[in-house]
Amino acid sequence: MSHPRLLPRPVAARSVPGEFPLDAATTITAPGAPATTAAWLQSALRPATGLPLPVTDEQSESAIVLTLRPELGPEAYRLESGPTGVRIEGGDTGGVFYGCQALLQLLPPRIYRNSRISDERWAVPGAVVEDAPRFGWRGAMLDVARHFLPKREVLRFIDLMAMHRLNTLHLHLTDDQGWRVEIRRFPRLTETGGWRRSSQLGSTIDDLTEDRPHGGYYTQDDIREIVAHAAERGVTVVPEIDVPGHSQAAIAAYPELGVTHEQLEVMTRWGVSPHTLNAEESTIDFFRHVFDEIMALFPSAFIGMGGDECPKDQWKGDPRTQELIAERGLADENALQSWFITRIAAHVAERGRRVFGWDEILEGELPPGVAVASWRGMTGAVTAARRGFDVVSCPDDQVYLDYRQSEHPDEPIPVSVPVTLADAYAFDPVPDGLSDEQAARVLGGQANLWSEHMDTPRMVDYYAFPRLCAVAEALWCGPDQRHFDEFSTRLYDAHLPRLDAIGVEYRPRTGPLPWQTRPGIVGAPATKADHEAHMNRRVAAIRS
Ligand code: ACM
Repeated sequence: MSHPRLLPRPVAARSVPGEFPLDAATTITAPGAPATTAAWLQSALRPATGLPLPVTDEQSESAIVLTLRPELGPEAYRLESGPTGVRIEGGDTGGVFYGCQALLQLLPPRIYRNSRISDERWAVPGAVVEDAPRFGWRGAMLDVARHFLPKREVLRFIDLMAMHRLNTLHLHLTDDQGWRVEIRRFPRLTETGGWRRSSQLGSTIDDLTEDRPHGGYYTQDDIREIVAHAAERGVTVVPEIDVPGHSQAAIAAYPELGVTHEQLEVMTRWGVSPHTLNAEESTIDFFRHVFDEIMALFPSAFIGMGGDECPKDQWKGDPRTQELIAERGLADENALQSWFITRIAAHVAERGRRVFGWDEILEGELPPGVAVASWRGMTGAVTAARRGFDVVSCPDDQVYLDYRQSEHPDEPIPVSVPVTLADAYAFDPVPDGLSDEQAARVLGGQANLWSEHMDTPRMVDYYAFPRLCAVAEALWCGPDQRHFDEFSTRLYDAHLPRLDAIGVEYRPRTGPLPWQTRPGIVGAPATKADHEAHMNRRVAAIRS
């Protein structure tokens, strides 16, 4: 081996002579490093090796040693393996953990299996790896609202994120089509809002319906487990409760939250519901309570409040909403949306957290401290950074992993433009045209998995991988360290065998397997030119 074939690619890595055998005498010690990371490493190495690998304080001839070395910096690590042992130093707990992940990747792919499958001996090849991330926000968003992802699958997805050194899981917990988190004070949010009678299949053009109820939600204990499992793996879970649009499931549960107060059902079609929240003080109060329960469950610095795609037609046509706009001295419905966001943001800020919203929130005034997810291309990133807000980049044409992976005619339910592996790999969260100070506002980026067309965990695997491997590397390494051909070779030769061992049903290089296709569903593919023109119109209001 000329150099270790890790993914994401480390800043520096080289092979050195010798190897470190793993055997019955091998121990793990963690002087000064977190016991949870040592325990995690033991649990990661034991099943496939069948070795005991005790975690001990005692000096041993044959040890994997984990230590903290703060001067390395956040999430950075140094790994050295050779005949005398393996030494992993981390700048912090996350760094030690990533050193452990690197150690797994130095071993053959069968290390990822859940049991021993051969009598071959285990040895860590000699290597020196020095590594640190480019960005602090390396994320993925799971839309568990359109299709619920069972808790065990969320835990597995977190494991896969951690393997790729992704550290932020944005959970899109509510939408028109479902409410997925238990709120003790308002049980109908999940009793009523947690399921729908039927689901649209494909796009509007397809005009197909699956007449089978869909639902599910996470109890508060499920959420505590998800958050703790993620934290043990260096992953922060950022929750999102989407308001004041994308709220039909909440309105179905509590009609008094809606503009018309009519009894609605949880939406069964995709797209954006015309039914939005009303702007009464009582509705703000309701969501203050919801966010309080959310903040008690999720310790993240950022709390998502959506803010995207809020149609203003109901507000325009509703005399009571017009009265509220006049009473509050607001100019129009856009100002009312800002009023709504500002009220929630103030409540979140009072509890020491910051709100995180989609780039539509730039259509009005925003309080300081808000972070903006730029999704309609990079216009939101540029505007937010210039206005002094922090940015998480997730431009749809590069990292919306629900978009089709190629022009292959068998891609399942093709929507929008192709986002190929190369497109995802070319992602750079920092847009052109910013000063250094503005560029420093870019916290990082994330890939988004909208789940309208991912009705099973198998399809989440298909859409996510291998493109998420490319995004992970784009967020870890600077552009000068990235070379697509080299990445592809490393991915296909060294990394996909790891995913095979885990059982990830990624998209094969040659196209979908027969059971990954969806024959007869047209979807809504778009050309790049049409898509660009469409997005340019949509972001006109936030262009700076
Ligand atoms: C979004 O894709 N509506 C944020």
